[in-house]
Amino acid sequence: MKIFHDFDLSKATTFHIPAKARIYAEYDSIDELRDLLFSPQYTGMKRLHIGGGSNLLFTTDFDGLVMHSAMKSITTMSGDNDDDVYLKVSAGVVWDDFVKYCVDNSLYGAENLSYIPGEAGASAVQNVGAYGVEAKDIISKVHAIDTTSGEERIFTVEECDYAYRHSIFKRHDYSGRYIITDVVYRLSRLKHFTLDYGPLKELAAEKDVTLAKVRDRIIDIRRHKLPEPAELGSAGSFFKNPVITPEKFLRLKGDYPELPSYPAPDGIKIPAAWLIEHAGMKGKSIGGAQVYPGQCLVIVNTGNATAADIVALFGEIREKVAAQFGITLSPEVNIIGKA
Ligand code: EPU
Repeated sequence: MKIFHDFDLSKATTFHIPAKARIYAEYDSIDELRDLLFSPQYTGMKRLHIGGGSNLLFTTDFDGLVMHSAMKSITTMSGDNDDDVYLKVSAGVVWDDFVKYCVDNSLYGAENLSYIPGEAGASAVQNVGAYGVEAKDIISKVHAIDTTSGEERIFTVEECDYAYRHSIFKRHDYSGRYIITDVVYRLSRLKHFTLDYGPLKELAAEKDVTLAKVRDRIIDIRRHKLPEPAELGSAGSFFKNPVITPEKFLRLKGDYPELPSYPAPDGIKIPAAWLIEHAGMKGKSIGGAQVYPGQCLVIVNTGNATAADIVALFGEIREKVAAQFGITLSPEVNIIGKA
């Protein structure tokens, strides 16, 4: 286990915004995690477990214990049948390493989620999604440690209560209580693809589609549209796409006939990026924070942004979109501290 005092969190988040953690602990086993949870040294301290830091904004220093898993195994489970393969993946595995592993081993199901930043554990909290696929589509079980008892609890995918960028692990009574240690994903040996999302439709028309081709196309699309976390700090989509009622949608569509939309289980989903762009916020900056011109859903740190810059820009976007469209955007990014 590695323990750091006054740890610089800009190294542990893809926004690269300065903030400090009183203690930062990186553990190598579940026993070490239990030691952290029950050590008298840390009793009573505020605690936060993080993954790859790709969906996090610290608005102040964190006066407590930040925990991170350094466990990185991918194990094939028994119980496979001819078609399905179950992989038990440690929470600390880099998400895209897992996707690449599946593609390299001819396992179908994860390829549309190529190149999403973050780690496997967070995929099960956040239900990450892109290009018509969500993590829930391939999650079979989630292993977690109950922080009150230290016992392991295994959640079935139904118990995880997945919805768009939502799971039971985001509910206030579960978020501090369970720490995900491993996720079991169900992949398939049978060739099948999900290629109905706009830019992938051309691929669907090709004869010899392969996992590697889908992965390469998605990496290409993401590289063109989204900032590279290593080059320009960001936390991916800053906002969730709002879901509105059909009545409200029809009213808006009357004023904005070109408004894009997608059916959602509980209403009509509107791309927040479109609303932000049409509220005149594309490329807008406050201090070092900027609405990324290539994809307005993303706020970037152009180099020296402070959390206050990001929060101010976030506030202005919300106000402008609410004033023009009557829709209040909710952040997708997990904001730690005051927003
Ligand atoms: N659009 C604009 N302006 C922009 C960008 C997009 O008007 O600057 C409009 C276009 O009409 C476009 C539509 O928004 O057709 C949708 O854009 P896009 O396909 O890029 O997807 P998105 O809805 O903006 C979501 C996810 C992304 C994911 C993509 C692809 C959320 C919050 N975001 O974005 O996920 O990669 O779909 O499936 O659901 C993330 O969560 O961090 C993330 C990047």
